Amino acid sequence: MTYVVTEACIKCKYMDCVEVCPVDCFYEGENMLVINPNECIDCGVCEPECPAEAILPDTEDGMEEWLELNTKYSEEWPNITVKGEQPADADDWKGKEGKMEHFSDKPGKGD
Ligand code: SF4
Ligand code: F3S
Repeated sequence: MTYVVTEACIKCKYMDCVEVCPVDCFYEGENMLVINPNECIDCGVCEPECPAEAILPDTEDGMEEWLELNTKYSEEWPNITVKGEQPADADDWKGKEGKMEHFSDKPGKGD
C-alpha cells in the first residue's frame, strides 16, 4: 500500500506534509502535490498533518484514480521537501467539492 494525495489538495497546497515525510517523497505541481508511491514507506505521519485532509491510504475506496495520478506526476514534477508559501486563497478552497476541474498538470518550482 501507499498514501496518496487526493483532490482536496488542489488549490489548497498547504505543504505541511512535506516537512514531516522521512523519505522526502512529495512532488510539486502548480496547484497540488503528489506522493511517489514507490518511495512512500507507508509510515502515515503525513496524513494528520494536512489541514485539508487530502492525504489518504490507497486502501480506501475510490483511490485507484489518485494512485494513478500520484504515480504519473511524481515522475514528472520536481521534488519538494521544504514548506513554501501556501496560495493566498487556500482557505477559500478548503473542503470545496469538484476541484478536479482546476487541476493543473504543470510542474511547480520544487525546492
Ligand atoms: Fe512520507 Fe510517510 Fe506520508 Fe509516505 S506516509 S508520504 S513516507 S510521510
Ligand atoms: Fe496538499 Fe495537504 Fe500537503 S493540502 S500540499 S496534501 S498539507
